[in-house]
Amino acid sequence: MPSTLDYEAKPLPFEKDLVGISQKTLAIHHDKLYLGYVAKMKEVGSKLKEMRQSGVGLDASNQSYSDLRSLRDAETFTTNGVYLHEYYFSVLGGDGVASGTLVDELIAKYGSLEQFIAFFSASGMAVRGWVVLAWDTQIQRLKIYGCDAHNQGGVWGCMPIIVLDVYEHAYFADYGSDRKAYIADFWKNFNWEKANEMYEKVSKFNLS
Ligand SMILES: [Fe+2]
Repeated sequence: MPSTLDYEAKPLPFEKDLVGISQKTLAIHHDKLYLGYVAKMKEVGSKLKEMRQSGVGLDASNQSYSDLRSLRDAETFTTNGVYLHEYYFSVLGGDGVASGTLVDELIAKYGSLEQFIAFFSASGMAVRGWVVLAWDTQIQRLKIYGCDAHNQGGVWGCMPIIVLDVYEHAYFADYGSDRKAYIADFWKNFNWEKANEMYEKVSKFNLS
């Protein structure tokens, strides 16, 4: 069974040029930031393992400040930094043409695909980090959640389907401060086939 320490970073799942989002931005985003999170996730995992095995520092564990507290905080930040970016990259590289079971469900829930996209996109203007369409396994519904940081705002028991990165590093070099234009292009580059596949997988989970 693979562990955090030998986690294999995923390559960008597409090679084509995207609408609006430059290769330079993608290279920085994937090769520097995402791979950086993978490296830090492993470093944190290694330090936690060392602490667990040696026992050194466990007696000093403290909620105001302690080495273990710092590592626990960094663990969720780096791990979600890895996973959220993988979800985000996985739905880019498409042609934006929408069809499939997820699309049918979104139309049933939001009235039309356009209404879903408008609500999701506006949510992207309202948060500081991530917008996530998830399958909520507790209530068996699609839900949009917003996160201001990798390890803030996520809801346990929810499986991401569509993840949008709205941190400035995702768009500033190409769009300046025009996040709205970046989000509009996100949908032009969107891979609905991938999103449908993910929906088919995660909607089988029922933890209620
Ligand atoms: Fe990012």
